[in-house]
Amino acid sequence: MGRASCLLLLLLPLVHVSATTPEPCELDDEDFRCVCNFSEPQPDWSEAFQCVSAVEVEIRAGGLNLEPFLKRVDADADPRQYADTVKALRVRRLTVGAAQVPAQLLVGALRVLAYSRLKELTLEDLKITGTMPPLPLEATGLALSSLRLRNVSWATGRSWLAELQQWLKPGLKVLSIAQAHSPAFSCEQVRAFPALTSLDLSDNPGLGERGLIAALCPHKFPAIQNLALRNTGMETPTGVCAALAAAGVQPHSLDLSHNSLRATVNPSAPRCMWSSALNSLNLSFAGLEQVPKGLPAKLRVLDLSCNRLNRAPQPDELPEVDNLTLDGNPFLVPGTALPHEGSMNSGVVPACARSTLSVGVSGTLVLLQGARGFA
Ligand SMILES: *[C@@H]1O[C@H](CO)[C@@H](O)[C@H](O)[C@H]1NC(C)=O
Ligand SMILES: *[C@@H]1O[C@H](CO)[C@@H](O)[C@H](O)[C@H]1NC(C)=O
Ligand SMILES: *[C@@H]1O[C@H](CO)[C@@H](O)[C@H](O)[C@H]1NC(C)=O
Ligand SMILES: *[C@@H]1O[C@H](CO)[C@@H](O)[C@H](O)[C@H]1NC(C)=O
Repeated sequence: MGRASCLLLLLLPLVHVSATTPEPCELDDEDFRCVCNFSEPQPDWSEAFQCVSAVEVEIRAGGLNLEPFLKRVDADADPRQYADTVKALRVRRLTVGAAQVPAQLLVGALRVLAYSRLKELTLEDLKITGTMPPLPLEATGLALSSLRLRNVSWATGRSWLAELQQWLKPGLKVLSIAQAHSPAFSCEQVRAFPALTSLDLSDNPGLGERGLIAALCPHKFPAIQNLALRNTGMETPTGVCAALAAAGVQPHSLDLSHNSLRATVNPSAPRCMWSSALNSLNLSFAGLEQVPKGLPAKLRVLDLSCNRLNRAPQPDELPEVDNLTLDGNPFLVPGTALPHEGSMNSGVVPACARSTLSVGVSGTLVLLQGARGFA
């Protein structure tokens, strides 16, 4: 059943196509991470054999069409015959990238991997052709904890998530979908993700607030704690609040950084109450000239770094926060702003590029060392 041995063809290939290509795979000294980049038009897939001992495996196929694999695979083979071999693999994290993959081959690989101890799967720059067959009755799904997709296009269009979900066990905790070609899934067929705590829809600039309601599939993500919406075309915090309320999603932490946000609220728009579960809000890199109105009244963490605030926010403009980040705003640039009397800010940081200055409401300054560069 299924084109099941295709993964073995990728990981344990038996066919030696050519011996003239340069080494496409590299395994580190610890036998931990193995990276293959098959960029030749006729790659020697057997090179991937050295990855069998690795825990992290990354395979990129130089944009090749993997359709010929289907012909080499015995469609009627029972994947259970590979179970022992696959169980012996150490792989926990697998990345597959840069290829055109028939859906039949993808589900065949997922079916074989269901016998492995794989926990994290990343698919990048893939074009999935054809439709995904449903999971056969006797088969079990793949027990992933994390699934990350970036720039994956699906011939099946909007139903791809529902189709892919059938091949997974329900325990998925982390789902990330970036550069989606159709971020609005057809929610009707999607079953709930009962264990999903982190949903990352970042880097879908065409999503927008209306698209967000559709992508959040009402009541299909009941356990979400962290929602990341970086660079997703969001316009106002209030609009996002309304979309979350409409979708019944109540995250603890919400990342709206890298959206161009407007602070003002359309006065005719209905007021939106944030869920009381929300305790961390990231509004950095949002082009804000003032602190938006209608933020949740109580937050633990608020990041307003790298905006265009020209003066120190007054305490009554800010929600109650334990952990506030304001660095990288013009009012903090040396020479242009001095600490305001009565304001909470007494620190000056030149740019958001190098350091993160955290100003506690209590007045304590915490300079976070080694903050990542915001290039
Ligand atoms: C793979 O190899 C090709 C050709 O050598 C190169 O252009 C490409 O950047 C490599 N990809 C990765 C991810 O290293
Ligand atoms: C997205 O993936 C396709 C292959 O499916 C590739 O041709 C394209 O360059 C990728 N786009 C980006 C922005 O990486
Ligand atoms: C907020 O988002 C920025 C950019 O995405 C990130 O660098 C920063 O660490 C985030 N802040 C918090 C408090 O998580
Ligand atoms: C503020 O929050 C950030 C992100 O959650 C965390 O890394 C940092 O340690 C916190 N700082 C303080 C002073 O609590």
